[in-house]
Amino acid sequence: MKKLYQKGWFGIKFSEFAKLDSENIADDKFYEKFYELFYKKFDSYNDLPKDYIECKTNIAKDIINFSKDYKDILSIGCGNGFIENFIIKNSDKNILAIEPSNNFKWLTNAETCKTIIGFFPECIKDERKYEFGYCSTIDYVFNNEEYINFFKSVYDYGFKDFYLAEVIVPSEGFVASTKEIIKDVLSLFGLYNKGQFWGYLRNIDEHIALLKKVGFKKITYGTHKHGSYWIRLENEKN
Ligand SMILES: C[S@@+](CC[C@H](N)C(=O)[O-])C[C@H]1O[C@@H](n2cnc3c(N)ncnc32)[C@H](O)[C@@H]1O
Repeated sequence: MKKLYQKGWFGIKFSEFAKLDSENIADDKFYEKFYELFYKKFDSYNDLPKDYIECKTNIAKDIINFSKDYKDILSIGCGNGFIENFIIKNSDKNILAIEPSNNFKWLTNAETCKTIIGFFPECIKDERKYEFGYCSTIDYVFNNEEYINFFKSVYDYGFKDFYLAEVIVPSEGFVASTKEIIKDVLSLFGLYNKGQFWGYLRNIDEHIALLKKVGFKKITYGTHKHGSYWIRLENEKN
């Protein structure tokens, strides 16, 4: 597992609104300030950077394909809702999209898309049961204990089919490792600012080991068109 640091996102420099903290992970307040600037900078999904649109579109197309046997989908942690918006506009699926931060500016409730502000699983305890679910780009925010707790709640919920989409793995090899070591040494001497502590990157074996610990037995994986991974968790009773 490698720690991930970031100095900006979507062309917004974190130093514009926060003091970068390489020890503590970005908290709710950090994200709140970030999204204030984000929604000032961008007016709609079409406004977002081209490479972002391309990656999230690949993921949305994969989710449509993965869920071909299901009409109803649960999305956990939908963020700005780009993927969910693409799915409802390009398929006959119904989506329930949940997100704890009040980030529903562009993804609005529609006949085929219901949104709920809150954390999984508490915020949907009164909703109907979903057989198919996914989360995209959530894993990296969790330390190992939080990761296990989150996926234990996914396991206990009892989806027939669940996908972790857009799993980003750390770059490996001599050059990447050497660069990391040099940055670590320079930052020890105050000569390099690593940036804001952003999360954790795990390789596929580390993901599988944690998911097995949670209880999942049927685990398979593959890659999206742009290279990041997806991991499929099937209910062994299927
Ligand atoms: C990096 S964002 C990904 C957003 C979006 N899925 C995407 O692919 O662009 C991760 C999201 O997960 C949400 N999240 C974290 N824990 C969650 C939980 N227990 N239930 C629901 N959402 C959660 C966060 O609020 C955050 O918006």
